[in-house]
Amino acid sequence: MSASILMIITTILLVLVAIANASNVTPLSIKLSLTDTEGEMQVTWFTLDFPSSPCVQFDNKGFNPSEVTGNIITGRIVEFTQKLWSGYTSIAVISPLAAQQTYYYAVGNKETGVWSVLYNFTTSTFPNTNSQVTPFSFVTYGDMGAVVDNSTVRNIVKTLDQFQFALHVGDIAYADLQDGDEGIYGNQTIWNEFLEEITPISATIPYMTCPGNHDIFNGNNSNYQNTFMMPTGSDNGDWYSFDFNGVHFVGISSETDYSPSSEQVIWLTNELQTYRNSNPDGWLIVFAHRPLYCTSNLDWCMNDTNRISLINSLEDLFYKYNVNFFIGGHSHEYERMLPVYKSQVYGSNANPQATVYVVIGTAGCQEGLNTGFQPLPVYSSGVRLLETGYAKVSFLDSYHMQWQFIQDKTDTVLDSVFHKQLHNLVWTIAILVNQT
Ligand SMILES: *[C@@H]1O[C@H](CO)[C@@H](O)[C@H](O)[C@H]1NC(C)=O
Ligand SMILES: *[C@@H]1O[C@H](CO)[C@@H](O)[C@H](O)[C@H]1NC(C)=O
Ligand SMILES: *[C@@H]1O[C@H](CO)[C@@H](O)[C@H](O)[C@H]1NC(C)=O
Ligand SMILES: *[C@@H]1O[C@H](CO)[C@@H](O)[C@H](O)[C@H]1NC(C)=O
Ligand SMILES: *[C@@H]1O[C@H](CO)[C@@H](O)[C@H](O)[C@H]1NC(C)=O
Ligand SMILES: [Fe+2]
Repeated sequence: MSASILMIITTILLVLVAIANASNVTPLSIKLSLTDTEGEMQVTWFTLDFPSSPCVQFDNKGFNPSEVTGNIITGRIVEFTQKLWSGYTSIAVISPLAAQQTYYYAVGNKETGVWSVLYNFTTSTFPNTNSQVTPFSFVTYGDMGAVVDNSTVRNIVKTLDQFQFALHVGDIAYADLQDGDEGIYGNQTIWNEFLEEITPISATIPYMTCPGNHDIFNGNNSNYQNTFMMPTGSDNGDWYSFDFNGVHFVGISSETDYSPSSEQVIWLTNELQTYRNSNPDGWLIVFAHRPLYCTSNLDWCMNDTNRISLINSLEDLFYKYNVNFFIGGHSHEYERMLPVYKSQVYGSNANPQATVYVVIGTAGCQEGLNTGFQPLPVYSSGVRLLETGYAKVSFLDSYHMQWQFIQDKTDTVLDSVFHKQLHNLVWTIAILVNQT
């Protein structure tokens, strides 16, 4: 064989190796998430191979990622190490960002020249934390799962420009449901398929989550934590808070110890108290996977002792610190309560004197919907639906919020109601008394 033929073969081999390497650091599962700091946007993505120096390129105008003309920020890397899982999450925080501004970005690697396509996102208003609401909407749902029925994703993608962020209240991909002993470790193929499916949402608006029971593999949720990098509340983001356009959101984990003396509940008490002390009139929304109130025929919604413990641990806090809204999933149904405390109605939607609880476990997971309801309790609004769909939540100003349930099948609104945030005189007085 002549030297020149050898050289050609070697060159071809090198090119093939380069292509193979390049494809293994292709950014997959691209997701935005909010941080707890103004002027930041976090982006995370998955690669099969070690990404060596992952980075994000961004600018306030469009650009061609391969020309590398945007601002570059280098990320950090987390590796999936558990049995049957492999690959890497890259995490980069884009900043500083201006308020209410559209930015373009691509993720990849400056050295290998492998980049994602160009995406864009729009920032919220700053400051976020003074409880003066700048109108916005977000989309929320729980219990989704991959591939089986993606009509929720399809409908949201069609109307994505209406939403400033997505809130997925646990039971993300149902990657724990499969035949065989290995099921307990969670199936990364299913996990990644789900992440690809939601990319049209998650690469354009922040995708905020909390853990559900189906996000735990072999006793812990470290794969969830290696995928969804939530703000630093505690326990690797299992509980956290963030502010958006003047509304305060607090996420907690119903899959972690929630006894009154637990680290989580101590954190939550401090979190709610701190917020309310400086924002007597602010909208305060708490979310978790499992609901306190739900009335389907799911075991959890019957007199499950763990649900009673959840109520005993949290309900007084929600009442005391005037949590306006609680969003949960887990029960595969849509259900909206009236303002309720200790199973009694307090006020009305127009004059709420307790927390309003909503269940939105309807994003179409493969387990299907629940099959029925218990007798209607006094604290129910009477709206209980066994339909797949999602909620659109719109803050109209500092005192008015519109909550809507949109059915997948017809893409129409089946439930629409206004909620009011009152000037909370009781709270204002309590704070004044506290301060003297
Ligand atoms: C931002 O991305 C979305 C989703 O890909 C796209 O529909 C929209 O046109 C983009 N907006 C701008 C301003 O480029
Ligand atoms: C994971 O799910 C995929 C897709 O359903 C399947 O082909 C594969 O066998 C599963 N993996 C394991 C380890 O069970
Ligand atoms: C939904 O599923 C269909 C059929 O499997 C697929 O063609 C389509 O791309 C999916 N849409 C989204 C948004 O994932
Ligand atoms: C989570 O479970 C996996 C699989 O059993 C184990 O390898 C890992 O150490 C656990 N992680 C934590 C933080 O407990
Ligand atoms: C739960 O317990 C209460 C109080 O004992 C009882 O009134 C109610 O009927 C029970 N509900 C269910 C669904 O078992
Ligand atoms: Fe669940």
